[in-house]
Order: sequence, then structure tokens, then C-alpha cells
Amino acid sequence: MRIASLSLTKPTTKVSRNKNFGKLQAGYLFPEVARRRREHQANNPDAKILSLGIGDTTEPIPPTIVEAMRDAAIGLGTRQGYSGYGAEQGQAAVREAITQRLYAHVGRKPSEIFVSDGSKCDIGRLQLMFGSQVSVAVQDPAYPVYVDSSVIMGMTGEYNGQDFDGITYMVCRPENDFFPDLTQTPRTDIIFFCSPNNPTGAAATRQQLTELVAFAKKNGSIIVYDAAYALFISDPDCPKTIFEIPGAEEVALETCSFSKYAGFTGVRLGWTVVPEQLRYADGFPVMNDWNRIMSTIFNGASNIAQAGGLAALSDKGWAEVHELVAFYKENAAILKQTFEGLGFNVYGGKDAPYIWIQFPGRASWDVFGEILQNCNIVTTPGSGFGAAGEGFVRISAFGHREDILEAVERFKKVYA
Ligand SMILES: Cc1ncc(COP(=O)(O)O)c(C=O)c1O
Repeated sequence: MRIASLSLTKPTTKVSRNKNFGKLQAGYLFPEVARRRREHQANNPDAKILSLGIGDTTEPIPPTIVEAMRDAAIGLGTRQGYSGYGAEQGQAAVREAITQRLYAHVGRKPSEIFVSDGSKCDIGRLQLMFGSQVSVAVQDPAYPVYVDSSVIMGMTGEYNGQDFDGITYMVCRPENDFFPDLTQTPRTDIIFFCSPNNPTGAAATRQQLTELVAFAKKNGSIIVYDAAYALFISDPDCPKTIFEIPGAEEVALETCSFSKYAGFTGVRLGWTVVPEQLRYADGFPVMNDWNRIMSTIFNGASNIAQAGGLAALSDKGWAEVHELVAFYKENAAILKQTFEGLGFNVYGGKDAPYIWIQFPGRASWDVFGEILQNCNIVTTPGSGFGAAGEGFVRISAFGHREDILEAVERFKKVYA
């Protein structure tokens, strides 16, 4: 959301600002993308700008799911259907249904599933749980929330012109098949790992995740595994949950979301799985602290959203979810083919809704500006996700089909 920039005025309070905010760069990536879009629109009032920038969904929520939310909302207007605060961990039926659909085959239990208002919020709360004294590794490039929340928490040093001192950046580029060289990676307490990856679209293979789990075990680290796009995976060699890797339950927790599966980016519903076996150095269960965090600063996901989530997990809802994911995957295939046909090096787009396009020797923000100027299309500059994203732009497949097709024609005109 746009917040007007205010000039510094003589203060009334004597409260010091959290100095970590001063370390953050320019602002969160997507507001900056939105600012440049507004500027372009203001300069070109007639331009029909297409957005393939931020990863927001566009298609309607499938009918079974939306009907369940409608019924839940109407129920709240009746004495019999009214409910107030629910369990902070989520409704028992939702925890059970998530387990049955996604985790029972890998040994996870409903008591390990914590339902929430989304993955981004859970990542922030996880940081609060770990505290500011832990060391952190992230993939580079990465979803910006891992780095920015680490900065805000005070886990890092200053911005050094390229990235933040004190964070271990695990470079993921085509040269290493988008998987970090773990033999060269120092030990950290926490490893944020996202697969399928935002922004590169790379899905880690079983072999790669086995290596990652072994690395975490050797170092005694905790993996925060972000599986927000897991359902986009088609490759049978790429696990849909980290818990497919034997032993992962001792070193990993996993966060996931209905946002991209069911069009819940605005409805807000997600979950985090914290296995019983995941313990701190003193043997204390991580799950108990997570339960404490969720009980203390979260008051349970919306009961309407949970009704939607439950419906999404029903047989009919789940089929609709798969249809929706397949629709976006087709968009991704169209975009991928287009750029391949234009002779670009194109990554992702097969097991993920993001296409990662290389523009060798160019700065990402320049390419972003060029595409905006010449095609009236908003993309996301790769460097906004980390230094190793320089020279790439990310294109999102979460558009209406007609917009994707229109974008393809515009790209072909400019880049043929
Ligand atoms: C990798 C990744 N994790 C988490 C999220 C946030 O999901 P939610 O909408 O559940 O907060 C996103 C959203 O774009 C994402 O790309």
C-alpha cells in the first residue's frame, strides 16, 4: 500500500526509532515496482498497462470454496451459526484435512499443523520466535520477506551496497542449477529455503533436498522450508514437501498457503507444520514455542477463511484447486515458450508460476524500465530479490488468459 512520504518534523515524543529500520533499503520491492508503474501511467495516461509483476492471483475463487465461505458468513448472522474466537492453532477439522491431503503419507500429524492468516505472517512470527541472536542463510535471489524481516529483527549488520552484512547468501543461478554449493556454505542457525522458488521458478529435486537436509543435520541448523507453490510441481523427482526427505522432521519446519492454490491472497489462510521431533539445542520442542507465539500474538484464522480452506480440501474443492493451478501453469507455459522462441535463456515456468528470464550484461531495473516503456508491461526486476538476481527479470503467470496472450504479442513485437 502507498504511504505518503512525510518530511521529518520536530517531534513531540522521546521514543527512539528501532535502528534496524534505518538499515532497510529503498522500501519493500513491490511498492517500488508499483510506484514506477504509477509514474509511467501518469506520463502515459492512455497506456493500457498489463501487470505480470507481483505474484497476486487474478482468477475467481472456485465455486465449492466460495460457496462454503458464503454459507459460513451467512451463518455468522444467526444464533446457531455464530462463532467467535476459535482455537489459535486452527479448527480441528481444518488441521485434520490439511494433514490428510498433504502430510499423512510423510508421517505428520494434525497436532503439528498450525493454521494461520498466511505464510508471510508466519515467516514474521517465526522470526520473532527465533529471536535476534540467530544467524540466517537465504537463497540469493529470494522472496524479500526472509531478508527484510531478518533486518528488522536485528539479525544483520548494515547494508554494504550489495547486500546485508551478517546474512549468508546462497547464490542460486543457472550455473549451479539454482541449488547452492553447500560445500562452500558456512553454518547458520536458520536456513530459509523456498521450493518451487520465488523468484527463479526452480523446484529442488529429491537429491538436492536430501543434500540440504544432510547439511542441516551436520550443522545442527533449522530449515524454514517455504512450500507456498508446492502444488505447481509436476516433476515426480521434485518433492512437494520437505518431509518427503527422511529425517527432515528433525531439522525442518514447513510453511504453506492457500493464497496461490485457491486465490486466497486477499482471503488470507495458510499453515505452518512444526514436527514434534524438531528440537532446540537443549532438547526443548520448537513446536511448544510456536504454539506459544500463535497463542500470544495471533488469535486464530478467520472462521470464514477456514470454512473456505476446509472446502478447498474436500474432494470437489481439491479438484477445483488443481484446475486453477493447471490454468496458471498453462499461462506459464505460454510465456516460457514465447521467450524461448525469442531466443532468451528462460528458467522456471515448468513447476512454478514464475518465469525467470536472463538479459546478459544488463541491469534488471533497466530491463524492467525498458519493458514498461516499450511494452506497457510491469515485470519484477530480478535484482530486487538479491544481488544474484541481477541481469534477470521475473514474469508472473498469475494473469487472465487474455492479458497473457496480449502480453505475448507485445513482447514479440519488441523483442523479435
Ligand atoms: C515464497 C512465498 N512465500 C510466502 C508467500 C506469502 O504467502 P501468503 O499470501 O500466504 O502470505 C509468498 C507470496 O507471494 C511467496 O511468494
